[in-house]
Amino acid sequence: MTERLVYRVEAGDIEHGGNVSSLVKSELKDRGFSEKIARRAGIVVFEGEMNLILYAEDGGTVRVEVLPQTIEILIEDTGPGIEDVDLALTPGYSTAPEWALELGFGAGMGLVNMRNQCDRFEIHSRLGEGTHIRCVIFGGEDADR
Ligand SMILES: Nc1ncnc2c1ncn2[C@@H]1O[C@H](COP(=O)(O)OP(=O)(O)O)[C@@H](O)[C@H]1O
Ligand SMILES: [Mg+2]
Repeated sequence: MTERLVYRVEAGDIEHGGNVSSLVKSELKDRGFSEKIARRAGIVVFEGEMNLILYAEDGGTVRVEVLPQTIEILIEDTGPGIEDVDLALTPGYSTAPEWALELGFGAGMGLVNMRNQCDRFEIHSRLGEGTHIRCVIFGGEDADR
C-alpha cells in the first residue's frame, strides 16, 4: 500500500524552515523506518524545503510516497528554474542572497547533500518553468546506510 504525504512550502517562509523535514522524519519513524533511514529522508527534505523557501518564487510542494520498503521524495516548484543544473550541483556554488548568508544558509552544499542521501536522484529544471527533484531511498531491512 502506498501512502502519500503532501506538504506546501511558502516562498520566503524562513521562520518555518525545517518544519516539513521534522514532520516527515517522525511520520517515517512512526511507520517503522529506522532512525538512519528517517534521518536520510530528513536531510533531503530539509535541503529541498530550504531551497523552495529561498529560491522558488511561488514556493512549492514536498510529496513523500511511502511504500513498505521504499521512500520516494518529490520536491517541485514552478520557477524560476535553474539555468545550469551541473553548476548548481557543484559543491560551494550558491546564489543565496546576503540576508540568507547572514542566517548561515547558502553554503552551496544542499543539492550535493541531497544527492548523497538518495539511492536514486534526479533533478530536472527549466528556466521559467521550474524545478523537479526526485529522490528514492530504499528503506528495507538490508538498507546499509
Ligand atoms: N528550487 C530552486 N529554484 C531555483 N534555483 C535553485 C533551486 N534550488 C537550488 N537552486 C540554485 O542552486 C544553487 C545551489 O543550491 P544548494 O546546493 O541547495 O546550495 P545553497 O542553497 O546553499 O545555495 C542555489 O544557490 C540556487 O542558485
Ligand atoms: Mg540549498
